[in-house]
Amino acid sequence: MFRTHTCGELRSADIHKEITLAGWVQTVRKFGSITFVDLRDRYGITQLLFSETLNEQLEANPLGREFVLQATGTVSERSNKNPNIPTGDIELTILSFTILNKSAVPPFAIQDDTDGGDELRMKYRYLDLRRNVVKKNLELRYAVGRSTRNYLHENGFMDIETPFLIKSTPEGARDFVVPSRMNAGQFYALPQSPQTFKQLLMVSGYDRYYQIVKCFRDEDLRADRQPEFTQIDCEMCFVEQEDILNMFEGLVKRIFKDVKNIDYSATVERMTWENAMWTYGNDKPDIRFDIKLANLKFPAHTYPAQQDVSSLISGVDFKVFDEAETVIALAAPGCSEYTRKQTDELTEWVKRPQVGMKGLVFIKCNTDGSFKSSVDKFYNEEKLKAIAAATQAKAGDLILIVAGAEERTRKAASDLRMYMGTTLGLRKADEYKLLWVLDFPLFEYAEEDNRWVARHHPFTSPKPADMDTMINNNPVIDNAAAYLKHPYANIKANAYDMVLNGNEIGGGSIRIFQRELQQKMFAALGMDEAEQQHKFGFLLGAFEYGAPPHGGIAFGFDRLCSILGGSESIRDFIAFPKNNSGRDVMIDAPSTIDDKQFEELQIKLDLKA
Ligand code: AMO
Repeated sequence: MFRTHTCGELRSADIHKEITLAGWVQTVRKFGSITFVDLRDRYGITQLLFSETLNEQLEANPLGREFVLQATGTVSERSNKNPNIPTGDIELTILSFTILNKSAVPPFAIQDDTDGGDELRMKYRYLDLRRNVVKKNLELRYAVGRSTRNYLHENGFMDIETPFLIKSTPEGARDFVVPSRMNAGQFYALPQSPQTFKQLLMVSGYDRYYQIVKCFRDEDLRADRQPEFTQIDCEMCFVEQEDILNMFEGLVKRIFKDVKNIDYSATVERMTWENAMWTYGNDKPDIRFDIKLANLKFPAHTYPAQQDVSSLISGVDFKVFDEAETVIALAAPGCSEYTRKQTDELTEWVKRPQVGMKGLVFIKCNTDGSFKSSVDKFYNEEKLKAIAAATQAKAGDLILIVAGAEERTRKAASDLRMYMGTTLGLRKADEYKLLWVLDFPLFEYAEEDNRWVARHHPFTSPKPADMDTMINNNPVIDNAAAYLKHPYANIKANAYDMVLNGNEIGGGSIRIFQRELQQKMFAALGMDEAEQQHKFGFLLGAFEYGAPPHGGIAFGFDRLCSILGGSESIRDFIAFPKNNSGRDVMIDAPSTIDDKQFEELQIKLDLKA
């Protein structure tokens, strides 16, 4: 037997037992004639004590960091106890040891606060994975997966695998393609998600499907995106939106309980997409804090149902607001006494290219009820008071106002809201707030191609109330201006996103299940009959054989783990992640392939410069 116990297991109750451990040498410390070694494995660290009698043997076989060691000894009480580790009361007084393998000096310290930079740790990921912090992340990931499987199994879901070598699935990114040797000149696409397959499983009658599955998307990477990532992918038939929302709130609440021991008993809030954009400037708002946007000016077509209050800021010849398409204000609570330096810093912050504003207007709502602003030249006290009222600012608040083109300004206001939330400590790490965002637009206008694109994906159904608009109108748009007036611009989708603390953790929809409607959708997206057949003939065919009403959702598994683990980056929760250029720097992929492989594939490489 290699070992009788693990390095995380021994306690005072084991004192006097003779046991054998195996693990990696974390540290070697020599004190006069005795040597202490911290031995580490997946379960913890145990202190080994090598007394004088072993010195000769140690000199002949010196130990180094990360050596693989087997050691037998007697468990003894430690004179110098370490309350910080579970095995801190004991140590193992060594009787004999064997070096099972030596190690080169590791390129960085294998401990919580390592000296290794990102790239170095990625290159030696197998060493990074030995670190406790990384191990904890993978353990959390495993716990989320286990909880998910238990919940879905208990609710009658069946785990069914779907293929990886498939045809393009449109989820809005580029496909990764794989050449076929046996079908020269033809390519598979790796799935951006199992979307069409899970729908086919519904047609086949597997009414509750799930899979924890890899998806592949060739898109620009960010902290919360990887080219291959994992989804908790689910589909159900004979359901309405409400059934899906309930079932999957249940899943997330169960994960909270199992993984974080949190009873999330609160009702999950719901918000329409339009309200989210209007109130938070964002379709995945962080609702842990209460700062809301006040829309002082906006283009009429964007939020037709909302009240126009632009007269509050017009008529004083303030060009910045007069010439802007959109003006949005927010009240930063308790910040009225910000110094000039602080407001200057905020101005610099919104001027950064990532935010892209030309400047920032301030109104201080002083605690004595007076107002002081950076635009006192234009707005008298009465006007400032009216703006403050529209912004729902209280005495002691600092109003921040951005102005410019609609899309950019709304995003800037949203970014500024988040920044203030962080700065003011309102985004608490140990608080979790779930939110459903509902009623997304079904279509978006793609200016480059002058056509509609599906906001979620082409299999999402319109809201029942919008069905006639979808069927009875011709989707052709003449030009960019015409799309605003086109009835398709107002069709709402039967789609929903789940948002957690400002992150989109899942999204799904009730699907189209009738062939004619699916064809109408494809046509709206600019696909003629031939293209529809070529790309989705299999799905249209399946819809002719008794397709049931169905719908589903997919959660970003890595994302959910990173939020529960309190990290910005999903990389920390993936055993072997890629860097921001999509490279695996450990195995050095992607890489070139042999001439022989090109020959077998009958492909000649002719890279465009
Ligand atoms: P969607 O494209 O919204 O839906 O993806 C579902 C969830 O997957 C996560 N996600 C990602 N995570 C890491 N890296 C990425 N590159 C990445 N892209 C997406 C997000 C997202 O909410 N087939 C549909 C689901 C459905 O309709 O049932 C789909 O894939 O958390």
